[in-house]
Amino acid sequence: MNPGKVFLVGAGPGDPGLLTWRAIKLMSSCDVVCYDLLVSPAILSLVPAEKEMMPVGYRGYCGSSIEYGMHPDVVAEALAGKTVLRLKSGDPFIFGRATEECRSLSHHGIDYEIVPGITSALGAAAYAGFPLTSNGMASDVTFVSGHRPSKTLTSWASMGKSSGTLVLYMGAKKLALHAAKLIAEGRDPDTPVALVSSATSYKQKLLTTTLGKVDEVMDADIHSDGSPVLVIMGQVVELSSELDWRSKLLLAGRSVMVPSQHEEMAETLRVIGAEVIRGPGVEMECGFNPFDWNRIMASTTLWLADEDAAKALMATAGEHKMDIRLWPWQISGKRSAQCYLARYGIFIDENEEAPGSSLSLVSSEQDAGLCGCQLNVTAPKFSMGQLDICWVDDSAVMEMILARPDLFNWRYLVTTRPELAQVLRQQGIAHHLVAFDDIGQQLSMLTVEQNRHVA
Ligand SMILES: C[S@@+](CC[C@H](N)C(=O)[O-])C[C@H]1O[C@@H](n2cnc3c(N)ncnc32)[C@H](O)[C@@H]1O
Repeated sequence: MNPGKVFLVGAGPGDPGLLTWRAIKLMSSCDVVCYDLLVSPAILSLVPAEKEMMPVGYRGYCGSSIEYGMHPDVVAEALAGKTVLRLKSGDPFIFGRATEECRSLSHHGIDYEIVPGITSALGAAAYAGFPLTSNGMASDVTFVSGHRPSKTLTSWASMGKSSGTLVLYMGAKKLALHAAKLIAEGRDPDTPVALVSSATSYKQKLLTTTLGKVDEVMDADIHSDGSPVLVIMGQVVELSSELDWRSKLLLAGRSVMVPSQHEEMAETLRVIGAEVIRGPGVEMECGFNPFDWNRIMASTTLWLADEDAAKALMATAGEHKMDIRLWPWQISGKRSAQCYLARYGIFIDENEEAPGSSLSLVSSEQDAGLCGCQLNVTAPKFSMGQLDICWVDDSAVMEMILARPDLFNWRYLVTTRPELAQVLRQQGIAHHLVAFDDIGQQLSMLTVEQNRHVA
């Protein structure tokens, strides 16, 4: 068997809006997605539900004993002929061990392609509100690994003398050591320093200090929760108080899971600052079970409550190879059902209400009548992380969320469907939210309320 191909793709620092077009396309065209532990749930939620997904990669200074070739699972999948999307945080060619990975693929005769991503330094600076270079302040920027300070020792001397911007990747834990070295090499102790954790995600935190005072922030909680931290030093950091734009957004710092069918609303929420995680995909299967079909066959008048009911009728009649010209029913239905059947040359009367003696066919189990459609939900293959607001508009999704606390950890469960709100109320669960208009405003009120609780 010919091996498949591996795409080493940069996923950017966290915000799914920073993915490249190519990365999104590859999510749909690949066979399997192998992802770094730093790739956020918001990004993983964009991978189509049917794709195979595997966590691979190493996290956080796991020791020099690791052999940094391509992960064996990625090689195995490619050797089995699959197209593998290897999603890496930031950019694969910036401190991404990509050289070793490419060599190991070549060694196995596997073709590869590199798709760049936005490196975390660019994301952190843009979302914390300061540039990396600025006229009169910094005319150069250096990216350096703070992982093994001894190896970069030779360049510390020139970095100490520079007045440009210095970005330390993997350098937060040893920051006090780095700061002492830079000061010893001549860097001004008053140089502003920013620590940015989980850059561009809803969890982003910014802490500022100066080179001479980094000791004072080493105990801050920015170091403690396992989030990736980037250290940026230089005069430009001072601009954050002036240029910050992100923390002013209405839903900044909030993660909202949005039903997959509400893509337009998801975009609105993104614009006002929320990190949007796409809800589990739902698929509607239309058709009638044999028992219900016998009842339908025994009836002379049918009323179709919506397009999906018409779809279910067509699908089941098709399964039974019924000739539409010989259909035994007098059918009427709502306009959407009428339009759907008209596409097949079947013309029915429009009727917004069910006529008295007719058998009603509907699509969802909430309404009275024979239900022709079933929602199939695929559980995500990764944990959704901490969700501030979990917005659900399908009963099947709601059931899954309540049944899988290992995948869904939410503060507020909300819905725009009155019948689901009723269920939430009966179960005494969190909040419901029935008005769809101006949902952004409503969600922000919810989070303000949450702040009050915290206070
Ligand atoms: C192994 S390097 C990978 C860098 C990645 N290839 C890139 O281009 O951003 C991991 C380090 O990158 C930085 N990093 C990656 N993602 C980050 C994020 N979202 N926020 C802050 N720092 C991040 C941290 O310094 C972390 O220790």
